[in-house]
Amino acid sequence: MPIANGFLDKKDFSNEFFFNMEVGFNEELSLFQLNDHPKPEKMFNKNYPFFTGSSEYMKRHFKSYAEFVKKYLKTNSRIIEIGSNDGTFLKNFDNSENFLTGVEPSKNVADIAIKNNIPTINEFFNTVSAKKLKKFVGNTDLICASNVICHVPNLNNLIEAVDLLLSKDGVFVFEEPYLGSMFEKVSYDQIYDEHIFMFSATSISKIFSKFNFYLVDAIPQTTHGGSMRYVLKRFKNEDNESLKKIFNYEDKNNLNKIDSCLEFKKNCEISKDNITNKIKSFKDEGRTICGYAATSKSTTILNYCNIGTNYIDFICDTTKEKIGKFSPGKHIPIRDINYFHENMTDCVYLFAWNHKEEIFNKEKNFRGEWFSHVNL
Ligand code: TMP
Repeated sequence: MPIANGFLDKKDFSNEFFFNMEVGFNEELSLFQLNDHPKPEKMFNKNYPFFTGSSEYMKRHFKSYAEFVKKYLKTNSRIIEIGSNDGTFLKNFDNSENFLTGVEPSKNVADIAIKNNIPTINEFFNTVSAKKLKKFVGNTDLICASNVICHVPNLNNLIEAVDLLLSKDGVFVFEEPYLGSMFEKVSYDQIYDEHIFMFSATSISKIFSKFNFYLVDAIPQTTHGGSMRYVLKRFKNEDNESLKKIFNYEDKNNLNKIDSCLEFKKNCEISKDNITNKIKSFKDEGRTICGYAATSKSTTILNYCNIGTNYIDFICDTTKEKIGKFSPGKHIPIRDINYFHENMTDCVYLFAWNHKEEIFNKEKNFRGEWFSHVNL
């Protein structure tokens, strides 16, 4: 596999970086994870091409996420967001009532947040940066994150950093793609270099209890094709019925055992056959195909199913950092959305299937066939 977000220029084709992507399951922690991964610096650098604010749906989601966590705030609370990207989440808090700090390792997105007056430090979140932060932020009542904890290879160190900064009755809330949804949808495109872990409530509870943190709530989210919001504290609340239901679901579906992974593996192989047969039949019928949205997830699909320019003419996307470049590994050209409007193909592979409502609404003029490896 190449780097999922490693969109590249023609001149860089010959030195493209590839690694062997393999997943495993830790039965002690019920943790689904990559066995090996590229160094984080290879992925989250000054050119990181992902901007939270590029999706209206995500902007709305982060507004409601902010509303949800406001109940944990006191007067003049300190809030830290790990992996604060362009500041889309922190923008929803009043900086004069609370003290905001974003921690973001990718310089280009951190710079946008700073330009928008969101105090941001351009660093990886770990015990080293936490010790520095502690000196000027003191204790923190609320630490939040979304789609970032699963990116951090040294999870132990991250939890130690949270422990260092969080006040005695502080709350740590984060959202990540959910193992249960990935298994149900066979959305194996969630597996790529950046997603080192695919969590469940069971695995989160087991991991954090080693550090004396307790999972006190877990709330399913529709984002990223099915995510889970986890709420952790240093003490247990009284029994939470909805959390119990989630644990029951995970037990019933063997999410705490390797059996569910083996079933998933078979389902991935079936899914691969189905999508490659579908694409081949479109071609045999003489129909043209393009991709919609050059997502990081699409890198897994295209490389695992061996789909390149022999099938897909181009992928359209709104991100200016990707337009004019080529897709990782398969080198499909990335075009802007206007190009798609002027060169509509007969069939469109919707790679951003998790944004389908937003995209279908925008693309009402497209009269051809949408398709994907998951049900649309
Ligand atoms: P991601 O799944 O890796 O987060 O990437 C989402 C990509 O989808 C990002 O490059 C922007 C693109 N996109 C569009 O091109 N049009 C859209 O309407 C939406 C919602 C996303």
